[in-house]
Amino acid sequence: MNTELAKGVNWVGHLDWSVRDFHGYRTERGSSYNAYLVEGAHAALIDTVKAPYAATLIGQVRARLRERPLRYLVCNHAEPDHAGAMAAVLAAFPGVTVVCNAKCREALGLYGDTTGWTFQVVKEGDKLDLGGRTLQVFDTPMVHWPESMVTYLIEEQILFSMDAFGQHYASGWRFDDEAPLDEVMHEAKTYYANIVLPFARPVTAALAKLGTLPLKQVAPSHGVIWRSHVADIVRAYQDWVVSKAAKKVVILFCTMWDSTRLMAEAVAEGALSEAVTVKLIDVNATADTDIVAEVMDCAALAAGSATLNMGIMPRLAATLTYLRGLKPVGKAGFAFGSCGWATKGAEEAAAYLGAMQVEILHEPITCRFRPDAATLARCREAGRLLAKRALTAGGETKR
Ligand code: FEO
Repeated sequence: MNTELAKGVNWVGHLDWSVRDFHGYRTERGSSYNAYLVEGAHAALIDTVKAPYAATLIGQVRARLRERPLRYLVCNHAEPDHAGAMAAVLAAFPGVTVVCNAKCREALGLYGDTTGWTFQVVKEGDKLDLGGRTLQVFDTPMVHWPESMVTYLIEEQILFSMDAFGQHYASGWRFDDEAPLDEVMHEAKTYYANIVLPFARPVTAALAKLGTLPLKQVAPSHGVIWRSHVADIVRAYQDWVVSKAAKKVVILFCTMWDSTRLMAEAVAEGALSEAVTVKLIDVNATADTDIVAEVMDCAALAAGSATLNMGIMPRLAATLTYLRGLKPVGKAGFAFGSCGWATKGAEEAAAYLGAMQVEILHEPITCRFRPDAATLARCREAGRLLAKRALTAGGETKR
């Protein structure tokens, strides 16, 4: 596996082929925890890996340095998928100075015992002279935690971008031009939707700041390194931060005895009468991780629920709760659903949409037991309404 970004600059991370749940994020292609070793006259390790994989990291660093000492450990982000192996690294390489900002130092101390660690606290724009190579740090608060920063290797024009531009994607390829680009972009979008989406404003600020740097490579903390498609991923982020909507309708539903499914299919049928992309999603059969990636860039959204115990179906409630936290913006839509004797499922779905700041196009469409022809006609008409709204998409919604 080619790990060399430049002479003396290497990936030394861990490929996590098996992980399928990353704090709720369904990682179908696994992930990687990327750490990078930069060698000048002094050597610096940029970030570490999850604690259980410390030995893999330490072995790679030892193999590269042989008898030379490790001088610095730069910590861009205190989250344990990157900082979890710091204690083991410091134990393995005595005399290392931890380089991080003040917030990160505090966070590391709250996660574990940092007594005895030697810190060099840095601030925006500070430089670290490695002898022939220079690292420069930039704060990127809330991308994706308050203490997050990125590190720039000036001579090689490589940005170690932390979570930004990452993908949960385990592969034997370390670079974007080695891997299938459609897979990488799909995982980058899914990653953005599930991790970065609520932080559009801080990401916008970071893009503006980092956009002034000449960039030959962007090396994130997960997935492949961008070197041939830097402009593509930066452009994609520029679209995602402004929530540029596609001409797309998403219909989510959770059914009990297939009546709400029939209504959802009628909504989809109506939407398909226009030249828009339509995604009909049974939330019982689809991971929330994938649902969010579909919803992120849709213009119109419908949510359908049967009524269970005088309320919304729990599985749809979970999906909408997850969506509400991630704050996708700029959608219009409505709720629908069948019930036995109380229309609570559809009403609660409508309340969720309202809490997500979806523009509500009309009252919930409901029926008792099976939808009759008139109800299905209403659903088809509502689907056409969604599609007409989606046809006007293409604008930007700033947070
Ligand atoms: Fe990959 Fe915010 O940690």
